[in-house]
Amino acid sequence: MIHPIVKFGDPVLETPTKWVEKFDEDLQKLVDDMFESMYAASGVGLAAPQIGLGQRITVIDVSNGKTPEARIVLANPEIIYADGQQREEEGCLSIPGFRGYVERPQYVTVRAQDAQGNIFERKGEGLLARAFCHEIDHLNGVLFISHLSMLKRDMIKRKIRKMKKAGEW
Ligand code: NI
Repeated sequence: MIHPIVKFGDPVLETPTKWVEKFDEDLQKLVDDMFESMYAASGVGLAAPQIGLGQRITVIDVSNGKTPEARIVLANPEIIYADGQQREEEGCLSIPGFRGYVERPQYVTVRAQDAQGNIFERKGEGLLARAFCHEIDHLNGVLFISHLSMLKRDMIKRKIRKMKKAGEW
């Protein structure tokens, strides 16, 4: 089932999520829905708050659905290693139409649980490292615009407020 993507302004996006404790059929269904919703929106990552759920789980696929092995489920993830630097333009399905340069580590290793609850570690470099950081930020209630300069962030927020007034958000 494809869920609509929650947009900036909804408090769920800025609220830290709750730990996933039950690794059951419902969670597997949620993961399937999250992948489906992410591909439908042409995203490379989707965190549960983006479909309105305050759960500490995210899905990532930096291959855009081209490589099955690229499908990553991170439940209760934490970054256990980060090194290097990259500065690239970043966007977010919940803030459509806006992008900004964000500095992230070039190498990131996460420890997480999969949809069955098995603990694993995964290394990411470049775009995948960026996706790990961006999605784990979501689970902490943090959006990429909070990494931009105050000037740029306020400009984006002002434009969104205008769009909201005009019924375009
Ligand atoms: Ni995002």
